[in-house]
Amino acid sequence: MPILTIANQKGGVGKTTTAVTIAHGLAIAGWKTLLVDLDPQGHIAFSLGLPKGPGFYRLIVDEEPIEKVAIPARSNLEIIPGDKRTEKAKRAIVVSNFPMETITRALKHAEHEVVILDLAPSLDVLHVSALMASDWVLIPTKLEAMAVDGVNEVLRSMAEVAERGHRLGYSILPTFFDRTTRETVVQLNSLVETFKEHVWPPIAQDTKAREAPAYGKSLWEYCPHSSVITGFGEEPKIGGYVSTMSRLMEVLSE
Ligand SMILES: Nc1ncnc2c1ncn2[C@@H]1O[C@H](COP(=O)(O)OP(=O)(O)O)[C@@H](O)[C@H]1O
Ligand SMILES: [Mg+2]
Repeated sequence: MPILTIANQKGGVGKTTTAVTIAHGLAIAGWKTLLVDLDPQGHIAFSLGLPKGPGFYRLIVDEEPIEKVAIPARSNLEIIPGDKRTEKAKRAIVVSNFPMETITRALKHAEHEVVILDLAPSLDVLHVSALMASDWVLIPTKLEAMAVDGVNEVLRSMAEVAERGHRLGYSILPTFFDRTTRETVVQLNSLVETFKEHVWPPIAQDTKAREAPAYGKSLWEYCPHSSVITGFGEEPKIGGYVSTMSRLMEVLSE
């Protein structure tokens, strides 16, 4: 069962949008998928039209089994929701015996075909513990001057985790791509120059993507024909979550 973490210590770069979109995308493709919210903001549940809840807290602190805390969200898709009690769970993890192994242990008995972890924008114990549990990290990043810097921060925590004997692969997903702004194109080129084939085709900035959570719908439900999903430009189109999905399936099948 592959575990994939969506990470970037910067907020508002499209982590939660990406987590919900690929989790639902995998579910639609037939994978039995578990999406876990590790952010006290609890936006995963909200984005899918479900109430926030202390799912993660109950999993970690009360040690309830996954089947009791996971909530069916769509066909093939279950979520473990978060809320402000995730913050409490984090404090409990810090003083526990094996903080770095917490998530690995908690997910050991998951009976899903793939698990996606959506992180909060911080470099804390949950961040490291999630990386320790994961096989792959997907790093969404905005295309702005500090983008390379943000990606490097995640790579630094991956190096930390590697020192503990756990190696994992990574990809960078440029988000909020705006073809009409020269800055975006310059930053995309700079990312590709630095991280080469690790950079996946970008996701367009699209107002539809911003609207979807308010309706409690995933992008596949709310705007399947928009550029954020299908990509942009003339045929063949570039980027979009459709192309993210095909890259991801390759990685997950390895
Ligand atoms: N491709 C996109 N185009 C336009 N708005 C987007 C896009 N992706 C995400 N958003 C919006 O940007 C905001 C931040 O995205 P979010 O996924 O919550 O980021 P993070 O989880 O990194 O904080 C949300 O309001 C979201 O709906
Ligand atoms: Mg988020």
